[in-house]
Amino acid sequence: MSEEHPELAGPDFSKGIPIADLAEGGMILGQAGGEAVLVARSGGELLAIGAECTHYHGPLAEGVLVADTVRCPWHHACFSLRTGEALRAPALNPVSCWRVEQRDGTIYVREKLETAARAARIAGHGGPESIVIIGGGAAGNAAAETLRRDGYTRPITLLSADDAGPYDRPNLSKDYLAGNAPEESIPLRPPEFYADQAIELKLGARVAAIDPKAREVKLIDGAGHDYGALILATGAAPVRLAIPGSDLPQIHYLRTLADSRALIAAATAARRAVVIGASFIGLEVAASLRARGLEVHVVAPEAHPMERVVGREVGDFVRKVHEERGVVFHLGTTPASFDRSHVTLQSGEQLDADFVVVGIGVRPEKMLAEQAGITVDRGVAVDAYLETNVPGIWAAGDIARWPDRLSGEKIRIEHWVVAERQGQTAARNMLGARERFDAVPFFWTQQHDLQLSYVGHAAKWDRTDIDGSLPAKDCTVTYREGGGRKLAVLTIGRDRDSLAAEIELEDTIVP
Ligand SMILES: Cc1cc2nc3c(=O)[nH]c(=O)nc-3n(C[C@H](O)[C@H](O)[C@H](O)COP(=O)(O)OP(=O)(O)OC[C@H]3O[C@@H](n4cnc5c(N)ncnc54)[C@H](O)[C@@H]3O)c2cc1C
Ligand code: FES
Repeated sequence: MSEEHPELAGPDFSKGIPIADLAEGGMILGQAGGEAVLVARSGGELLAIGAECTHYHGPLAEGVLVADTVRCPWHHACFSLRTGEALRAPALNPVSCWRVEQRDGTIYVREKLETAARAARIAGHGGPESIVIIGGGAAGNAAAETLRRDGYTRPITLLSADDAGPYDRPNLSKDYLAGNAPEESIPLRPPEFYADQAIELKLGARVAAIDPKAREVKLIDGAGHDYGALILATGAAPVRLAIPGSDLPQIHYLRTLADSRALIAAATAARRAVVIGASFIGLEVAASLRARGLEVHVVAPEAHPMERVVGREVGDFVRKVHEERGVVFHLGTTPASFDRSHVTLQSGEQLDADFVVVGIGVRPEKMLAEQAGITVDRGVAVDAYLETNVPGIWAAGDIARWPDRLSGEKIRIEHWVVAERQGQTAARNMLGARERFDAVPFFWTQQHDLQLSYVGHAAKWDRTDIDGSLPAKDCTVTYREGGGRKLAVLTIGRDRDSLAAEIELEDTIVP
């Protein structure tokens, strides 16, 4: 700890540390010039970057070093140790870099280096005439940013049906809803970012149709936009309940910032909420509303929450965590009707409810693709490069079904990090990179003090192996198919194991 900056951990690298303290493939957390710095030794080279992830400030020193990169333990962003660049979402901004000197067996961190703009991968004049992106969510925003970062200089238009600019959607059911994260933390970028990047961001701009022959999109207000190439990133929309009372104003869904704001407003004046659905969103909402002091009841048809994704044992454990914090479950039943102050269940039971949140899954927004003659197969069908069957049109995020080499199946996944990484890959491929989308899927969920991290994809499995203890919130759950092949790994309290599993699964992908 330094005397000048007692809040920073580790040695002061400007005063030097013995080289013997840093083994090959190792990292040391310390400080320089009042900032937390990570010094790593990779391939004999010494490299120094900022120690805090630019996503949610995760501790990179607790991550994993892979060649000349480091992966964040919290949500698996990846940074270059050479340039500080955020190579993989969910981090979008680089970390700082420092010059390292080695003298007389001692390592010193010297001055901070100017983050050199990454060498553009394409010539400034290359790529399509113009690019239109439909959808201002995870995939659309990541695509727009990547196009500019990779040197594309021609017009980019980002059309979003939402009234708000791109924002941190996962937080809408977590800290923001719980009242623990301010609204300022929700936008992914400040408003001026898009103008500075010459990205024309049009909000409240819902696209009504695509004309692939004329290479034009039409907005619902009649305005038209020509495109040289197009990315479809329209995401998914909540499945709506159609039972008596479902159009009452106290029945809420959660997909947008406006939805989350409406929930917060409802929660402020309420005592008791009913959540329909025991999936991730339903349970995150339940946890956040408990954090606001509401009485919360969860209604769902399954006997074990989240069983389809995490299995029975983990599902039952999650239920227990919720029950310990006062959430009441009504499982094996569904709502039959709503009125202004009650939910009536199929079982006949009546629950008091000042408001209701329905989280029973989403459907991909594929209507535009269908109308444009793009092949649709339970999502928008794309090839390994995320291109659709219509030349010049790519798709990314919750709508895209792609050939996943890890599982050997065509899959569509609703994860934030997958959507951002697909947006990045689609953007690079529009500029000619010819990069397969091979990222191992990753998602996390936060409920009360429980974070689950999940890598891989197991639509179904034959066996689960649990290493460690669920009650101690310290375990690794491996999902395997009959032959023993590892399909996915869930961890609680073991972030490094989650990264190790990601790396192991990556290594099984046959090039
Ligand atoms: C509350 C909540 C919490 C979540 N938490 C997690 C989590 O913890 N971890 C995780 O991995 N995933 C989480 N997810 C899932 C994750 O947010 C999605 O997988 C991700 O946002 C998908 O990105 P996308 O770009 O495909 O779609 P979206 O982010 O939904 O963006 C779609 C965009 O398209 C726009 N659009 C749609 N139709 C049109 C049209 N016709 N014209 C113009 N624009 C249109 C929409 O307005 C929106 O801007 C969560 C989702 C929600 C709703
Ligand atoms: S804090 Fe690093 S990836 Fe989220």
